Amino acid sequence: MITVLCANAGVDKTYEVENFAVGGFYHPRRTITAPGGKGINVARVLKTLGQPVVVTGFAGGNNGRFLTQHLRSSGIQADFVPIGEESRVVISIIDGAQGTQTRVDEVGPLVTPSEVDRLRRKWDRLLDRSDLAVIAGSAPRGVSLDLYGELVETARKKKAPLILDAHDELLARALSARPVVIKPNLSELQRLVNGQLSVPDGVVEAGKQLVGDGINVVVTSLGARGAIAVTDKHGIWWARPPKVKVVNSVGSGDALVAGFAAASMERKPFDERLRLAVAAGTANAATFGAGACSEQEISKLLPEVKLKRLDAVEQAESAEQ
Ligand SMILES: Nc1ncnc2c1ncn2[C@@H]1O[C@H](COP(=O)(O)OP(=O)(O)OP(=O)(O)O)[C@@H](O)[C@H]1O
Ligand SMILES: [Mg+2]
Repeated sequence: MITVLCANAGVDKTYEVENFAVGGFYHPRRTITAPGGKGINVARVLKTLGQPVVVTGFAGGNNGRFLTQHLRSSGIQADFVPIGEESRVVISIIDGAQGTQTRVDEVGPLVTPSEVDRLRRKWDRLLDRSDLAVIAGSAPRGVSLDLYGELVETARKKKAPLILDAHDELLARALSARPVVIKPNLSELQRLVNGQLSVPDGVVEAGKQLVGDGINVVVTSLGARGAIAVTDKHGIWWARPPKVKVVNSVGSGDALVAGFAAASMERKPFDERLRLAVAAGTANAATFGAGACSEQEISKLLPEVKLKRLDAVEQAESAEQ
């Protein structure tokens, strides 16, 4: 079982509108209303990949009921902490003609200290029956910036490897609890190390520092350029996806996390974990909707992901010595 924390779960409304412009009036060509939030995207792709998954977080009001019921009816276990305020709605307007995405994000609920305590206790119980844990995305107002660090600590105590995909303070403050895997994208990694990074050298150097600080695996996603993984025991890799027609890149990082988690559950070798991660991310980019990619699309892309070992020179040098 994989437990996924989606602390900022809400309802995503995605509208497809051609030639969208500010001040216009539109009937969307297509509308999708679905549970949303980074962790939910991860859970959806895990389900697609055949992994048993339970998703937790906060859910309130009609939106909270909608998201819980919708997840359950699509076969994903939902075990949220009920909250007093309404879960948020996020609107995305996808314009295929202009290649733009416009987002309107509600600020979302303020959670109370006792609701956060209930989440801590739920996390504790869920991890007793989990082989792997994922924390993805931001957290609502009312949550301490130290919460993810605490939850990483719990996972460590319960021996559940944890993948953390968060950014800014929530990520920075969780690092001392040593999540097994972190998955920043390039700009998140740059903000973490407070500087511009070149690809691949700067990304590799930053990854090495984080691994030196006790993170086992740093996977930095690079959009169309794939992902670079720096690891403690499995070397340094760059996985590049094939060229695809991009429909929507939102949630591609979440799909990548799901692919990595699924391959980890199957105890695949490290390079195969990264391959499935990048195939899932790319399948998401080629599909309308976040986390809506199919198993067939992922399988089709899998052999097309190119893997290159970036520490081959270092390896050869150490073999010579
Ligand atoms: N334009 C693209 N073409 C091919 N693959 C892509 C593209 N954009 C994203 N991907 C795939 O998805 C993975 C993750 O993408 P990205 O780096 O954009 O994640 P992210 O910024 O964390 O996204 P999000 O947080 O919205 O989920 C990439 O490593 C790559 O495999
Ligand atoms: Mg991301």
